[in-house]
Amino acid sequence: MKTIKKIYCRTFQTAFKLAIPFLPYRKPILIDSINKLPDILTKENASRVLLVTDKGIRKAGLDQEIIDILCKNNIEVTIYDKTQPNPTIRNIEEGAAIYQLKRCQLLIALGGGSSMDCAKGIGARIARPQKPINKMKGILKILKPIPPLIAIPTTAGTGSECTLAAVISDPDHQQKYPINDFVLIPRYALLDPKMTVSLPPFLTATTGLDALTHAVEAYIGNSTTKDTRKESLEAISLIFANIEKAYDDPQNLEARKNMATAAYLAGLAFTKSYVGYVHAIAHSLGGFYQIAHGHANAVILPMMLRSYGSIIHPKLKRCALAAKLIEKDASEQKAAETFISAIEQLNERFAITTTFKQIRQEDIPSLAKHADKEANPLYPVPVLKDAKELEPYYYQLMYKEEIYGSSSNS
Ligand SMILES: NC(=O)c1ccc[n+]([C@@H]2O[C@H](COP(=O)([O-])OP(=O)(O)OC[C@H]3O[C@@H](n4cnc5c(N)ncnc54)[C@H](O)[C@@H]3O)[C@@H](O)[C@H]2O)c1
Ligand SMILES: [Fe+2]
Repeated sequence: MKTIKKIYCRTFQTAFKLAIPFLPYRKPILIDSINKLPDILTKENASRVLLVTDKGIRKAGLDQEIIDILCKNNIEVTIYDKTQPNPTIRNIEEGAAIYQLKRCQLLIALGGGSSMDCAKGIGARIARPQKPINKMKGILKILKPIPPLIAIPTTAGTGSECTLAAVISDPDHQQKYPINDFVLIPRYALLDPKMTVSLPPFLTATTGLDALTHAVEAYIGNSTTKDTRKESLEAISLIFANIEKAYDDPQNLEARKNMATAAYLAGLAFTKSYVGYVHAIAHSLGGFYQIAHGHANAVILPMMLRSYGSIIHPKLKRCALAAKLIEKDASEQKAAETFISAIEQLNERFAITTTFKQIRQEDIPSLAKHADKEANPLYPVPVLKDAKELEPYYYQLMYKEEIYGSSSNS
């Protein structure tokens, strides 16, 4: 990256870091049982709600108890269940139209990051009916309260239940981008580990590794605070202690609870301290090829950590200690390598493929430009990279047959 752009990025990031204590960050009010929903709705004066979810959640039957409880309490429930993984502008427009038509007063998001982000997008369009979603890309473009939002995560996960972000896909322009605004932080978050037991093992693994990526990218960035460092390390510790248990035994409620807590803590950490190039690259792959977010992050994380080199070794040693992977007297270099290898071993154990057949060589310059645009100047990454410098990572992620014309794959 050119020096002038580097100076611009670092100045921008420092300004945002200095502003952290003055910005209106808040945490959602935590609730632990769906039985509390009627009281909350009474408190919020809401008798008509839009439940935003997806077909997979309905197939797993996760919505029924909620609908029953609400109906028993004379709440009119309208369901929008067409949310796609990597929710689209169309999902949001459909949901917002239904919200208006049914004169809803509150949003309940039930699902993974896709349903939660779809509900946030619907809320943003209700707050700003004249402003299209693509004009909300970036930071602080909504600036008007959205309807009350209750987030009920069923993956562990994106942390969207406590973040100021919603990640939206625009398939017509092969784009996927975050919209970030304090008004998008849900008013309530219901963390109930029972909601995640039906999650299949592969999704348990990849969504858990998404949470790990949030914790690690927030921790190694330059805009951490005492709180976000603590939240990141706690999340890392919980994920390493529980992800395999949740994968091997989906009914293990304690492991599920710990993973839900980890995802929430990692969400709190990155909503203040940001993510980095792992996410920027993952979003570009989601936008172009609908590659699942957690899967992409799981693969990109170790690759990017290794590429940052020794500058992040002291921080990775603290991550490795939190993960209980090393002794205190291990060298920083050894600790960092142990931590990165441990992530790669998890990928292998969970049968996560490390290359993507969808990536086409001719797309790489555009993919890298998208990642550059998302990350710079906003993300306070340890080492700055521009679009050209990001391109080699896409080659590493390509299915090798695409490059060599042979049958090898990693
Ligand atoms: N807003 C944020 O802060 C933030 C952070 C990270 C990622 N994201 C975004 O979140 C999205 C990914 O969310 P995700 O990884 O949670 O997955 P998801 O919401 O896309 O869900 C993936 C699949 O899992 C199914 N599923 C979810 N929970 C289930 C359960 N308990 N039982 C059975 N099936 C279940 C869904 O039906 C869906 O088919 C991406 O668009 C990503 O960019 C947002
Ligand atoms: Fe993520």
